[in-house]
Amino acid sequence: MTFEVEILKPKIGAAIHVDRKSVCDDDVIQACQQLMEERTLVVFPEIGLSDEQQLELTDRLGSRVYYAANVPGGTTAGSDVYEITLESEINNEPEYVLSTFFWHFDGAHNHAAPPKVSMLASWGLAEKGGQTEFANTYAAWDALPDEEKAELEGLRVKHSIISSMRPFAETPSDEERRRWIKAVFNTRLGEEVPADCDSDDFEKEHPLVWTHASGRISLVLGVSADRIVGMPLAEGRALISRLMEWTVQPDFTYRHTWRKGDLVIFDNPGALHRVLPYGAGSGRVMHRTTVTGVELIA
Ligand SMILES: [Fe+2]
Repeated sequence: MTFEVEILKPKIGAAIHVDRKSVCDDDVIQACQQLMEERTLVVFPEIGLSDEQQLELTDRLGSRVYYAANVPGGTTAGSDVYEITLESEINNEPEYVLSTFFWHFDGAHNHAAPPKVSMLASWGLAEKGGQTEFANTYAAWDALPDEEKAELEGLRVKHSIISSMRPFAETPSDEERRRWIKAVFNTRLGEEVPADCDSDDFEKEHPLVWTHASGRISLVLGVSADRIVGMPLAEGRALISRLMEWTVQPDFTYRHTWRKGDLVIFDNPGALHRVLPYGAGSGRVMHRTTVTGVELIA
């Protein structure tokens, strides 16, 4: 055995303690995939991988995608590594990063399958804030009472870019909307942004309850979840709000306090995540790589 597994919380999280040079060994990869499936996220504490090593690990978990092509402030184009930061010398358009202060999964607005795996490496720490929280949306579904499950099955939710912006841009200008729409479009690789597009084009309807190909079931929620189709606005938003409170309760969540060199790999379709607020100039820098999605939300 070249590694040791540590369970972090009963329903979410595991750590793999392994030497840097063994991180891509077959048995480590196999354990990582299994733990991610069962426990949403895997931490490699202070492993300190280079970008090249992180990309090698990314490639072992699926097909790599640069998930932030031309996202405002996106950097290191061509390297497949996206730097998540509020540092102005790296990212001069931080709105996209501010959205990560709120519970979300990556790819909620997209028509393509959401990314299968996201991988975050800590290169710089915030003095205050900057911890990342994860919620296991399979565990949240599993623990619901049967009668509530029956009421939720079949409901559909509109996910909108405006809903994702609402917490930090109450009345977004046309220019801000356009920039956000562009960011969403650019995550749909290869598509051109139509000149006359409107934010209404950037709503995506998903089932509230997602039965995955594996047979496991998760809730599809987050800050992007705006309305329940066919339900009065207030009633729908109240339901979304209650389900969010349920999903992010302590039993189903894990908060990661970063140390430099930590690597966290998570199952994006089964996880909501957010970062605790941190400020520009705090020094926090994360390097993200992404494995492309293989399963549409259905
Ligand atoms: Fe994210």
